[in-house]
Amino acid sequence: MASMKLFLLLTTGALLIEVSEFASSTPNWVYHSSGWYAFINEPMNWNDAEVYCQNLIPGAHLASFHNIAAEKFAQDLVYKTVRAYPFTWIGGNDQFKNRNFMWSDGSEWNYENWAIGEPNNFNGRREACFQFLFGANKQWNDEPCSGSFPFICKAPKSDCCS
Ligand code: BGC
Ligand code: CA
Repeated sequence: MASMKLFLLLTTGALLIEVSEFASSTPNWVYHSSGWYAFINEPMNWNDAEVYCQNLIPGAHLASFHNIAAEKFAQDLVYKTVRAYPFTWIGGNDQFKNRNFMWSDGSEWNYENWAIGEPNNFNGRREACFQFLFGANKQWNDEPCSGSFPFICKAPKSDCCS
């Protein structure tokens, strides 16, 4: 009987570990006309975050923004999830060439929402990865890519999710 209990305990434990791993790889995607968005509240560096998004579903990347409405939608998603506005990685970066801004999903760079004084490669250090929800107006900041922050993934409308 004792060994049966131990067996059940171990099985349940294994199942719980399985379920929690599953949970972290199946985020809650929410729909907006610009795509599906998922806020991942697991701080990591920008490159790992980008890979994490790509591994969720084909076509997913760190989020790009092309208008204020979509960005506001993403702001609200973060707030609904954590009741706060933490600095959050998005897909904007200039990793390949200083001040040559691009999105990791390859979409056109046609919209910007920098916080006052940004982007600034602060104190002369390279800040090649971009976060949003920065400063009083929850705008964008360039930041060293090694920083650890939660992030927003975005998947194309056609490829996703529910
Ligand atoms: C950030 C910089 C930012 C600066 C603004 C720093 O904490 O790391 O990216 O430009 O604050 O004051
Ligand atoms: Ca900066």
